[in-house]
Amino acid sequence: MVTLNTLKKMKTDGEKIAMLTCYEASFAALMNRAGVEILLIGDSLGMTVQGQSSTLPVTLEHMVYHTQNVARSNSHSLILADLPFGSYQQSKEQAFAAAAALMAAGAHMVKLEGGAVFAETTEFLQARGIPVCAHIGLTPQYVNTLSGYKVQGRGDAAAAVLADAQAHDAAGASMILMECVPAALGKTITQSVSCPTIGIGAGKDTDGQVLVMHDMLGVYHGKTAKFVKNFMDGQNSIQAAVEAYVREVKAGTFPGAEHTFE
Ligand code: KIV
Repeated sequence: MVTLNTLKKMKTDGEKIAMLTCYEASFAALMNRAGVEILLIGDSLGMTVQGQSSTLPVTLEHMVYHTQNVARSNSHSLILADLPFGSYQQSKEQAFAAAAALMAAGAHMVKLEGGAVFAETTEFLQARGIPVCAHIGLTPQYVNTLSGYKVQGRGDAAAAVLADAQAHDAAGASMILMECVPAALGKTITQSVSCPTIGIGAGKDTDGQVLVMHDMLGVYHGKTAKFVKNFMDGQNSIQAAVEAYVREVKAGTFPGAEHTFE
């Protein structure tokens, strides 16, 4: 079973961590077989599964349902579930109630989007038995305040993203996930925090990588980002594509320069 200690040791040993989104039982079993260490029940399911135009309409009930479906067939990956929009921003107590529902559904860790302003929430949950992954950089739940899905932390803005990572790390976060930040910032953050880091569009030097399953299998009906690679290319099965992803993450050949922001 992949635990927090497994992930810490992988960071120390320089072994890359492979994470993919997963929303249901059959894919959970397939990803277990392919050696994916972390299954993320991402609120991206709002877009990939429900056909919404953002993650905002996803509810806690949706997240609990999909977490249960993944957990039933999972044999050894760590299960990370997203706290959906509106389920944790109001207070630490609200965050605990939502996170507890996800843990009861089978999650081993929850993910919240937001910077230093949520470090207190991270500390509150961690102290009460709930490991937290802090999602910083591009935080899709804040698409309206960010004016779109854009690269974060370029130039002078890098210091604020670094401060977000350090605040969550100091608060005891079990993991930091960075989305759409320049590769150099991904590397700096990874070197300056004690917990493992996962990147999506954050360059090759984070402790691990994540992609949305529908993107890496080339089945998403919408537009895909620069950081996406279609792993079905050259493969004759989904299992082989997921295995190729794990192999390339472990070897450090994914992401390449073409998937990376300066
Ligand atoms: O919801 C999700 O799939 C995510 C990934 C983009 C990391 O948060």
